[in-house]
Amino acid sequence: MDILKKIEMQRHEEEKLKWEGTFAEYLEIIKEKPWVAQSAHSRVYNMIKDAGVEKVDGKNQYQFFSNQLFGLEEALEKLVEEYFHPAAKRLDVRKRILLLMGPVSGGKSTLVAMLKRGLEAYSRTDRGAIYAIKGCPMHEDPLHLIPHHLRQDFFDEYGIRIEGNLSPLNTMRLDKEYGGRIEDVIVERIFFSEDKRVGIGTFSPSDPKSQDIADLTGSIDFSTIAEYGSESDPRAYRFDGELNKANRGMMEFQEMLKCDEKFLWHLLSLTQEGNFKAGRFALISADELIVAHTNETEYRSFISNKKNEALHSRIIVMPVPYNLKVSQEEKIYEKMIRESDVSNVHIAPHTLKVAAMFTILTRLKEPKKGDIDLVKKMRLYDGQNVEGFNSADVEELKKEYNDEGMSGIDPRYVINRISSTIIRKEMTSINALDVLRSLKEGLDQHPSITDELKERYLNFISVARKEFDDIAKKEVQKAFVYSYEESAKTLMDNYLDNVEAYCNKIKLRDPLTGEEINPDEKLMRSIEEQIGISENAKKAFREEILIRISAYARKGKRFDYNSHDRLREAIQKKLFADLKDVVKITTSTKTPDEQQLKKVNEVVARLIDEHGYNSTSANELLRYVGSLLNR
Ligand SMILES: Nc1ncnc2c1ncn2[C@@H]1O[C@H](COP(=O)(O)OP(=O)(O)OP(=O)(O)O)[C@@H](O)[C@H]1O
Ligand SMILES: [Mg+2]
Repeated sequence: MDILKKIEMQRHEEEKLKWEGTFAEYLEIIKEKPWVAQSAHSRVYNMIKDAGVEKVDGKNQYQFFSNQLFGLEEALEKLVEEYFHPAAKRLDVRKRILLLMGPVSGGKSTLVAMLKRGLEAYSRTDRGAIYAIKGCPMHEDPLHLIPHHLRQDFFDEYGIRIEGNLSPLNTMRLDKEYGGRIEDVIVERIFFSEDKRVGIGTFSPSDPKSQDIADLTGSIDFSTIAEYGSESDPRAYRFDGELNKANRGMMEFQEMLKCDEKFLWHLLSLTQEGNFKAGRFALISADELIVAHTNETEYRSFISNKKNEALHSRIIVMPVPYNLKVSQEEKIYEKMIRESDVSNVHIAPHTLKVAAMFTILTRLKEPKKGDIDLVKKMRLYDGQNVEGFNSADVEELKKEYNDEGMSGIDPRYVINRISSTIIRKEMTSINALDVLRSLKEGLDQHPSITDELKERYLNFISVARKEFDDIAKKEVQKAFVYSYEESAKTLMDNYLDNVEAYCNKIKLRDPLTGEEINPDEKLMRSIEEQIGISENAKKAFREEILIRISAYARKGKRFDYNSHDRLREAIQKKLFADLKDVVKITTSTKTPDEQQLKKVNEVVARLIDEHGYNSTSANELLRYVGSLLNR
């Protein structure tokens, strides 16, 4: 469908959602759909919940965030369950400013933007629908029209609590335009939109000397004072500050802690009492979520200042740490690259993973338990199996520090290095080595890295490089085997037949000649030696495998290539050992003969077809592995 058609359809859809009617008619809607009268916090919470919650390992994962924020599941769970949920239930946290605290480029702005865009979309759905007094610059809640002394009766009839006073402007309009007849006041459905300044606002402090509180709370409209006769006539006031416009929805307060105190006080009275003072009017009620963000240093210096004590108790701080999982970090880079203008460059497989390993290592803290190193910790955090450790150990590790993920290399740095490599070298294809090199060079220019830290980071680059070497070797060796899985399976079946015969002290039958033969000791040992099983230990190992097979059989499960970690490793190593010479010679020879050339082309083709390389990156990989094997 062409874009103009789509635009037209969209307009049509929006048109259909519009609603306008009297307050009396609005009450009918409320009877049927009481949720349209929910508070701002409750709407945000329901928006998050409606997107779906998935239980993973006993923890709640909120799908609302899952296509844009990666690896922050725990922080988000805390945010939703310790702030949004209680706030939605009108508990006291609602009256505090939500302050997201985390390291640079850790996703704070992304999180806020998701909430804003989410609310815009949600207000266009049935579950997120919202109504306001028509013509009110603050989109005031129509229920404010109900006088205080009747609110208990309203609650008894509708089960809805009303908070807040009718604003000075609407008090006057009720009187002048509607002759006090509440039921006639016109109500309309509104749709949040940051661009149109409906229910979504952003405040960003500028020079404290020139900044005017009017930016937050609106100002007198001097052009109309003459018309209305007095400054205290609400019609002579423009309720167009960020706090006014964000009413019913949310306001983002950027760089809040850099702000002048007088601004902060306004905010605090708003959040605490649910109202703020503007011009010469009675307090104005507002219902909005206020989100601010800051980094740790700024926050520490803020709370260390005695003057800020009162402010401090009115803020609720939620940490937004860096992601600590390699696989999730990869997703972050993929997303950032997709959104950038280098998205057409070929990135060799494993490149982002290797970069992510480096990044995660810089963020992790040294484990306190002696038997685990940083690389193992990195694997465990990513949910991989590490021999000798289980998920309880992972939880223990996480508890060792409560501020892990608050420092280290940020994703933007990595993406900047990747793009500068691409641009500088005009490359159409980059690989892990290019990126590691670039990350290394970049450390010199990084403004906030001390010499000591640099030393540490350089070491992590070598660690990531070693990991890459392993990955590269495996990849090429696998590609050398016509069908790797097939070969591994055949070799294993062969091994198992021999082990069975050995343990049961029986003979095997030669498939070709039909002759009875003894178990092939040489074959079995050549596999077992790969994982360091000694002559003395071989019997126990073989028996253990047979026991495992029969345990599988009892449960009706098939014992296969993946059923036994160590055996799989042994088989893999054996296959690679047999291949090593072929791979070594084929990949490193400068003048390949016809046979070798054929093999190289075959391997390159397999790398391209099955493993996601292009011809440049596949050839680079082969050359690199050749040099590795010849060291
Ligand atoms: N955990 C994450 N998941 C997905 N993307 C992330 C994550 N962390 C960072 N990013 C990406 O990194 C970039 C920077 O993030 P963002 O601007 O949201 O960070 P920030 O915390 O607001 O940083 P700053 O303190 O510099 O303002 C964005 O492109 C964002 O999408
Ligand atoms: Mg930001």
